[in-house]
Amino acid sequence: MKLPEKNRRFFLKAVAGTGLLASPLGNLAFGAIAQRTMPAAKFEGDFLRHNDIPWALETRRSSFGFGPITPESHFFVRNNLPMPSASILQQRDSWRIEVDGVNNPGSITVGEMQSFERHTIATVLQCSGNGRAFFEHHPSGSQWSVGAAGCALWTGISVADVLAHFGGTKHGMRFLTSLGGEVIPEGIDKDQIAVERSIPIDKALQDCLLVWEMNGAPLSLAHGGPIRLIVPGYFGVNSVKWVKRLAAAREESTTKIQQTGYRLRNIGEDGGPEHPSMYRMPVKSWLNGPGADDMPILAGKQFFYGVAFSGERGIKRVEVSLDNGKRWQKADFVGPDLGVDAWRVFQCPVELTVGEHRIWCRAQDGADEWQPRERTENQRGYGQSGWQDLCLTVTAVAELPATPLAPAPVVGNAGEKSARIVAMDKPMELSPAAQRGREIFLNRAQPGCGVCHAFVEPGSQGAVGPDLNQLQPSLTNVKQAVTQGVGIMPAYGGQLNSQEVDALAAYVFEASR
Ligand code: MTE
Repeated sequence: MKLPEKNRRFFLKAVAGTGLLASPLGNLAFGAIAQRTMPAAKFEGDFLRHNDIPWALETRRSSFGFGPITPESHFFVRNNLPMPSASILQQRDSWRIEVDGVNNPGSITVGEMQSFERHTIATVLQCSGNGRAFFEHHPSGSQWSVGAAGCALWTGISVADVLAHFGGTKHGMRFLTSLGGEVIPEGIDKDQIAVERSIPIDKALQDCLLVWEMNGAPLSLAHGGPIRLIVPGYFGVNSVKWVKRLAAAREESTTKIQQTGYRLRNIGEDGGPEHPSMYRMPVKSWLNGPGADDMPILAGKQFFYGVAFSGERGIKRVEVSLDNGKRWQKADFVGPDLGVDAWRVFQCPVELTVGEHRIWCRAQDGADEWQPRERTENQRGYGQSGWQDLCLTVTAVAELPATPLAPAPVVGNAGEKSARIVAMDKPMELSPAAQRGREIFLNRAQPGCGVCHAFVEPGSQGAVGPDLNQLQPSLTNVKQAVTQGVGIMPAYGGQLNSQEVDALAAYVFEASR
């Protein structure tokens, strides 16, 4: 397809940020592109926006909830290229897939697929880079924490039935290759940027599906509608969206994303076919709450909950630790077991004192493999599953803030922040501790906090230190800074006792949300 020059330049600019292009195109700066509205049915507050063109949206840890299925509204999105136009959903049934590497090559539409036997499977989809943010060598790419993963029900037909419909695979085929339906402008080498992935043919015939429904609703554009491949238990990159071509093949695809990308290699090494491809997902678990994303929780007994999965193996046991793995307590499974590729939700009661706590969990899968303590170091920050990194840090308080708190806004989302500030036209409701802290902020601390900090609630205009509405410090950060000082900020530990420091922290925390 020939794109106008303006669109071609835009496309290259967008792709440059994904690392998919080789030099010299890969060196194009990823300029400031106006922020886009979220994909249909997704809300800003549930995601961390790592990128908008192409989309890289991470589910907030506090947005996962307790259910075994991630609603589409909360499901992460990861695109390597700008998506195809939404117009492809206008006539879903006429979307056509070429089928090759079979005895009778041909093509089939989504409408024609409706006469095949239907299957529904629950599987976790997880980006290979989920957890990249924990690697200390700062691998390039989106800095996903835990939220580039979700578990959904996918409905469609089996790849085995489709290949059989075309006379079965030709002799000696070892892979199944699927090509995504993104429009690649003329003049750009397809192998450099196309999303075309190959998986072992045995896996394709065993349990892979071509799906048009997610959680019982037609597949949205962002998740690959009208049709995508689902490779249960494998990393997300293999589940190609907007599938245009399906081919049994003797060799793996010649695309960069297959040959050198998405391979586990040592730090400093270039990727190549000799390195393992990101296929089966190893055993992994993490806690999602309560108290994720800096939301204070009440001290006392709390039921912590999280998710555990292992590609193709299911989960046998999950344990929780409050002391970095010295002692473990068995967690209980909650809700249904949706199969070996789905995640299991678990919960565990924990008694918390007032203060900050770190809580770890680890899982054992159906093949008796335990989630490891350490991550496996690798160049691109792929496959992070070490339990130590994934601990949940929570702050337990004696009393909760009077006003329900929204989690901190998305980093860099200046538009949303200023909208919140402008909207503050009536006094905030503060907890009693925060009200005491307000008095300290304004009158007790010497020099006064507002001398240096801009802060909307008390009307401070200071410009020496950070703007507290933008910084949105955690309770711990405020307490540390006030007690010990930070940068040019003096320590107030000598003039304020620990209850006063706590009250000041509660005030800054509540009034900056
Ligand atoms: N398929 C196409 N055609 N284009 C893509 O960019 N991204 C892959 C995979 N399939 C991608 C694709 C990657 S890296 C992941 S992790 C999953 O889709 C993400 O699926 P989701 O956006 O539906 O969550």
